[in-house]
Amino acid sequence: MDGLGRRKILMAGGALGGFGALGAVAPARARSLWTWPPGASVAGTGAGVDPEWVWDDEADRLVAAVIDRGDVPRVNEQLRSWTRNDQAPPAGLPDDVREFMAQASRLPAWADRTKLEAAAEFSEGRSLYLNVLNGIGGGMLSTAIPREARSVYYSKGGADMEDRVAKTSLLGFAVGDLKAYRADGDCVVQAVKTRMVHAAVRHLLPKSPAWAQVSGGQKIPISQADILVTWHSLATYAMRKLLEWKVPVTSAEKAAYLHVWQVTAHMLGVRDEYIPVSWDAANAQSEQVLDPILTSTREGVELTDILLGQLAEQTSPGSVDRPLVNAFARYLVGDRVADMDRIPEEPFWEKTIELVWPKLVAFREGLISLPLVPPLAWTVDEAVRQYILFYLTKGRGTRIEIPDTNRPG
Ligand code: HEM
Repeated sequence: MDGLGRRKILMAGGALGGFGALGAVAPARARSLWTWPPGASVAGTGAGVDPEWVWDDEADRLVAAVIDRGDVPRVNEQLRSWTRNDQAPPAGLPDDVREFMAQASRLPAWADRTKLEAAAEFSEGRSLYLNVLNGIGGGMLSTAIPREARSVYYSKGGADMEDRVAKTSLLGFAVGDLKAYRADGDCVVQAVKTRMVHAAVRHLLPKSPAWAQVSGGQKIPISQADILVTWHSLATYAMRKLLEWKVPVTSAEKAAYLHVWQVTAHMLGVRDEYIPVSWDAANAQSEQVLDPILTSTREGVELTDILLGQLAEQTSPGSVDRPLVNAFARYLVGDRVADMDRIPEEPFWEKTIELVWPKLVAFREGLISLPLVPPLAWTVDEAVRQYILFYLTKGRGTRIEIPDTNRPG
């Protein structure tokens, strides 16, 4: 494709990125003492209880009952027809599930429609960067988050990573979509479904002997602290990288992007007293909950390899393939996390990406002209586009469903 054709695509798409402060922190250690103040949350107040010991009582009770009485197939069948934010939960659902969903679908009182709209426009304009950061960067981070890697590995979805990636990306795309929280969007739907999936995992995973052996003493997975960790690996990480890449982001856009993720945390069942009110508060919380717990696990290494292998398959009509994928993944998360995930070093492509990525970003942002972009940059650009297409395509035709078993075997 010629430069002009590419230029048009670049302008239409937005751009992409890597991982800063987290890459530079001290080696993994046990989680820190919870001292993050509720005054720094959207609630502005709270008891200060360590979210390590808080789950999601209402959803957990409900979904455990649904599983125990054998209602999962019926509920999943009904959930398939629930696709829009403005749609009432289907009438065929059991009463208790319908009532929970109706209540869980309400946006918090502090949700600000104007900010959500601004966030949607921002995400749309920056979709290339954000898809890469949330999809590949967030994916590579999640495998270095031991509890997440292990719960994914030993839950039902762990047996089919391709499907699992596709499902997980549904929520990411819903958050980044222009329609996101509009009436005809599906952010509410995907978040409420995910909240119920997490509740199911909390009921099922403790019955998995394999998980119990590696849970480090945690008896019930996916605590509120765990959800915050993952939230930072998506929202906080992406904003840090955008700024590190010198993507121009106005303060209104920063506030809007934070807001869409604050609302999403609430919709996933996170208590308002744990949701950071500002980026400063988010960065402080991330330093406390995310940075210290990153480490290598056998499950995370295996999942990383599966994920990168899938990406390479998608992007290699016999040419560049896995080394470029490895190098790009390393670039996104930095050496420390990449080493935890055992992503092989690729000196040639790593150097190339370090050189050309900032140029691609600068070009996309209109800061430099086309002749200043080295030709190899277009190979990287093309690969990135393929990754995104891969994520987008896989997401289509799949849906988030409540599991009723763990990973078989
Ligand atoms: C399922 C997103 C936090 C573990 C899902 C799904 C989504 C999602 C969209 C549904 C797709 C699927 O069924 O595979 C998120 C988001 C989070 C978050 C946006 C935080 C902001 C966590 C955390 C853990 C976790 C902290 C574990 C420590 C799981 C597991 C499943 C799941 C085990 C079900 C896999 C299966 O059996 O299919 N999550 N998640 N998630 N999530 Fe999360």
